[in-house]
Formats: sequence, structure tokens, C-alpha cells
Amino acid sequence: MALSIELNRSAKRSIYRQIAEQIKTQISTGRLPAGSRLPTVRKLATDMGVTRLTIQSAYGELQADGWIESVVGRGTFVSERVQPQTLHSSIGHCLTSDGILSDMFEVNKVIGVRSMAIAEPDSDLFPLDEFWASLTRLRPKAAELFGYTPPQGDPDLRVEVTHLLRDMGIGTTPDDVVITSGVMHGLTLATQALTQPGDAVLIEEPTFIGYLNILRAQGLRPIPVPIHADGPDLEQLEQLMAHEKPALYYTIPNFHNPTGQVWSLAHRRKILALAERYNCPIVEDDIYGLVSFDGSPMPTLRSMDDGNRVLYLNGFSKALMPGLRIGYMVVPEQHKEDLLRLRRSNDLCGSGLNQRALAHFLRDGGLKRHLRRIIPVYRQRRNSAMNALTRYMPSAVTWARPKGGYSIWLTLPRYFPPGELYRMALQQGFVFTAGEAYEMDQDEEFEYLRLCFGNQTEEGIWAGVRLLSEIVRREMVEGGRRNGESLRA
Ligand SMILES: Cc1ncc(COP(=O)(O)O)c(C=O)c1O
Repeated sequence: MALSIELNRSAKRSIYRQIAEQIKTQISTGRLPAGSRLPTVRKLATDMGVTRLTIQSAYGELQADGWIESVVGRGTFVSERVQPQTLHSSIGHCLTSDGILSDMFEVNKVIGVRSMAIAEPDSDLFPLDEFWASLTRLRPKAAELFGYTPPQGDPDLRVEVTHLLRDMGIGTTPDDVVITSGVMHGLTLATQALTQPGDAVLIEEPTFIGYLNILRAQGLRPIPVPIHADGPDLEQLEQLMAHEKPALYYTIPNFHNPTGQVWSLAHRRKILALAERYNCPIVEDDIYGLVSFDGSPMPTLRSMDDGNRVLYLNGFSKALMPGLRIGYMVVPEQHKEDLLRLRRSNDLCGSGLNQRALAHFLRDGGLKRHLRRIIPVYRQRRNSAMNALTRYMPSAVTWARPKGGYSIWLTLPRYFPPGELYRMALQQGFVFTAGEAYEMDQDEEFEYLRLCFGNQTEEGIWAGVRLLSEIVRREMVEGGRRNGESLRA
């Protein structure tokens, strides 16, 4: 079958990756259905004027990821495991924070769909061998590590975490650190420790959708505060703290999820001053703090707090590997016993083996080496996403350049009923995070979406952004015609 592939020979991006990504797009959009035969390596190389090695590399990558299969003596085919069509019936129907989170996990590992929906690092960049070496070194202690671990966390890991925190400007002792099963678990415990059902909780609008789920599960009342480029709207924050008497304020000051923004120093000072004046605990989520592309991030609220008012959370899901399921909290003395009691009644304790292996890895400098290796890669991916958006998106669509983390927040004129763009993209084998997941007040004028670039190669980002832009452009023009408006798009 004839493939239509356009190469940009002057781009820095490798030719084989451009070919692989365009074949993926044709598969995910259904132009190359499961079972389609691909041209032979020799034919495609001749047609495209590239070497056979280039085509072999592209096919090799597609095969390794399960998109195509080679059958000896018969040829190369689109894999029968490619299944974007079967997905359409089961996902895209429940546009709540939990519904869309559930979609994200369902779609993420499906072969044949390009997902830019989850803010996650790329598994191809995980330091697997180094981490495995840490595990292997623990073999003599395996019996001990397969027993229960202290609920507060492995002592060696708590020591290593205090060293990491010291490098981030947070002075603390292992005694103040509680290890959790991921930051989500820490947020669940911290919120429960600080609230009673029915309490008001201040959140940023938009905020991490997992936190909306925690609030719902614990019967708490979310009170949104709007955010600007440099932080929450301070006037509204003050009014809400004064009138709603919130039990806590949940904030993500570094590389905010989903907007990618960073709170200014002036905002941080004011947030702490307001928390002090209105006696409002702060839950600071710094999970993206180490994924910083343009220099050091701002000092954390915890490092600027002299009133023991900030409960600080971080973890290893974004800077290392989410499957470790390890996070940590720096806990003000007055909350420590409550948190440990909740931890014991919740999951008792974490996995000793994982925690001790991570302690080894950190002590050996594994995280620092890993960050030195991955930050330039993710910076390049961020740059590619910015360039692709500028190149392909209609001018009416806007976004901000994230200085860290994995998310880009797009604002579009509202030409689509809620969920329509999400479902349309899904039918084209492409997934992003629909703005509806953030459960913000319905906006008549704008709609929002989040694009995550961490788990895609640069070529994948270009292909994904291009596909989404084509859908947006087409629908904006159609929508404009339907509405009888003239468009600048
Ligand atoms: C802001 C924020 N906090 C917490 C989490 C959950 O982290 P973990 O995987 O460590 O539970 C996420 C995951 O996306 C996040 O974006």
C-alpha cells in the first residue's frame, strides 16, 4: 500500500523518527487499519530516497512498540493489537475529573492511540539498569526488606530525603519526614488530617484533578481561587480566607499542574502572610519542582515559612519513575502524630524493598545523574511543543511557555459543546486532557485543554500537535460558519 509521508530534511529531527511518527499517525487515525500491509523496506527506501537502514530503524521502533508486526516470508503488517476503534465505545462519555482520569489510564497503554493526556515522564528514559543495580545490592538483606517497614518510612530513605531537601533549600531532620505511597497518598492523608467532612478547602482554579477527587471522596467543599500568570488572585485569596474560613489552602507553586506556571516571589510572600493572618494551613505540592528547564525554581513556601504553617509534599513520580509509588511529606510537629495515626489506619506502611532500593539509588547520586541526563531532553520536548503550537495552531488559540513540568494549558475560543473536541480527537486516535476534567465553571467564551509532552518524542509531539491543530482549525472554521461569524483563524 502507498504511504503518504512528508519528510522535512532540514529539520534537526531524525528522518527515521519522522517516518515512524507519521506511520503512527496514519495508524491511529484509521488510514492504516489493523492488518494493512506496509511496503517492503527496500521499496519504501527507494520511494522516499532514503537508506534501507533508515526504514529498518523506523520499522524497528514501530515493531518494538507493538504498532506493526513482521511475518517471515509474508511481509510487514499493522498489528492486530492496534485497537483505537474499540476504545471509542467505552471512553469519552464521563466528563468529570474521575471519568477523564479513568479514560487517561485506559487509553495510555493502548497501542494505536497517541496520548498526550498524562503528565508523566517517558519510560524510555527511566534509569532502569542503575535502579536494578541498587536492588541487586540489597539481595543479602532481602528477607528483612520483605517484612513490614516502619509506617513513617524506611529510616535510610528518610535520611536521603533530608539530603535532597537540603539541596532544595529546606532544612529538616529525618524525624520530620513521612514517606508515602506517592504524592496522591500524601495528599489524601494530609487533607484528612487537617479537615472535618463538610469543611471548605481552598483550591486553585484550575488545579490537579486528582485533588478534586480527594475532596469529593472526603466530603469536602472545594472553594476555587482564580489564578493569573504569577500566582493566585491575592485579593480573592484574602477574601476567601477571611469569609470561608477554609481548613487549608492546596497550592502547586512550582510548574503548576495544569497551567505550567510559577508563582512569583512576591506572591509566595503574600500567600504566607495571608496564611498567618487567617490561620490557614498550606498544603504545598512540589511534585514538579525538580523538573525545571530554565534554571532553579523559586524557593518553596516551606523554605520561606517560619511559622510551621506549611505541610510540604513531594515525590519521585515525575523526576524519576511513577511506578515506584514513593512520595514524602515534611510535616509540622503539631500534625505529625495525626498523620502517622492515619497512615497506620490507611495502608499501614509502604514497600520496604522499594524504599530501601531508592535510598541506595539516591545515596549513589543516581537521581542527580538522572536529572542531568533527562532535563535537556525534556527541555527540547518543551521547545518542540512550543514551536509546533506556534507553527500549526490558529492564532485565536493561546498558551503559556512552561518553565518546568510536563503540561501546557491551551485556551481556545468556545466553538465546541463540552467534550466534543475531546471525542473528535479520540476518533482520530489522539488524546489530551479535556478542560472539563477540571470542573471549572462553564465558560461561554473559552474552553481549555491540557497537552502533556513528557512521554512523547519530539517527532511524536510535532505529529500530535499537528493533528490536534488540524481538528481545531477545521472545527473553528466549521463552527464559525455555523455561527455566521468571520474568523481570524
Ligand atoms: C500536582 C500533582 N500532585 C500529585 C500527583 C500524583 O503524584 P503520585 O504519582 O506521586 O501519586 C500528580 C500526578 O499527576 C500531580 O500532577
